Amino acid sequence: MTIINGNKVVVISTAEELARTAAMRFVSAAQDAVRTRDRFTTALSGGETPRRVYEILGTQFAMVLDWSRIHIFFGDERCVPPDNPASNYLMAYNALISKVAIPPFNVHRMIGEEDPAAGAAAYEQELRRVFRNSPLPRLDLMFLGLGRDGHTASLFPRSSVLNETTTWVGTSTPAGNVPDRITLTLPVINNAAQVLFLVSGADKAEVLSHVLRSTSGPVPPMPAQLIKPTNGTLEWLVDRAAAALLK
Ligand code: 6PG
Repeated sequence: MTIINGNKVVVISTAEELARTAAMRFVSAAQDAVRTRDRFTTALSGGETPRRVYEILGTQFAMVLDWSRIHIFFGDERCVPPDNPASNYLMAYNALISKVAIPPFNVHRMIGEEDPAAGAAAYEQELRRVFRNSPLPRLDLMFLGLGRDGHTASLFPRSSVLNETTTWVGTSTPAGNVPDRITLTLPVINNAAQVLFLVSGADKAEVLSHVLRSTSGPVPPMPAQLIKPTNGTLEWLVDRAAAALLK
């Protein structure tokens, strides 16, 4: 483990070992939370990197955890139906949710197939219900990925959702001809007890080096640089290919 600019970075040799390490972090956090608070809440990230993590959890660790005490949320979702190949829910369902004995009502899907703003508002109400109207939901574990433009969840550079300080769930519009997004906002993400970035592949080397090394200057920080848990831990699990420029 190394510290880069105050960031705790764990460089792991391969993408497979990265996935296994992340899965074991999930298991450890879940076992601790269920043992001490009889409940574990987690938000899954989307994209490709975490797929293998979820597959490992859904196979090698399926019988290890008490899934009846686990609540799965999502950090963000593409505004598509849940059976669309772009759906983060579908990816997690196929890799993990369909493989473990988690009660359906413990899986909190973002309703991406309807109006994005309505979906965001509905998700905020779901968070308020599960977190019993806490002033801010405190997720036990949040997985995050890193986009090549420095986005995380669906907090894209220059998106207005970055400025949200009171709402818990917002919407954003990525560049290009792609669906809108629903995303947890910075206040919620930064209230998590444990945040784990998972970064894999040579194509992330440049952005990872920038995110970890650059200090805030005149240019706006990348969204991933705004992830600073106020009362929690932040750790970067990166494979050697993504860490190539960190030496
Ligand atoms: C999404 C994710 C997004 C993702 C990064 C990295 O919905 O796409 O939430 O933030 O984590 O874009 O994606 P990859 O893992 O596919 O590189």
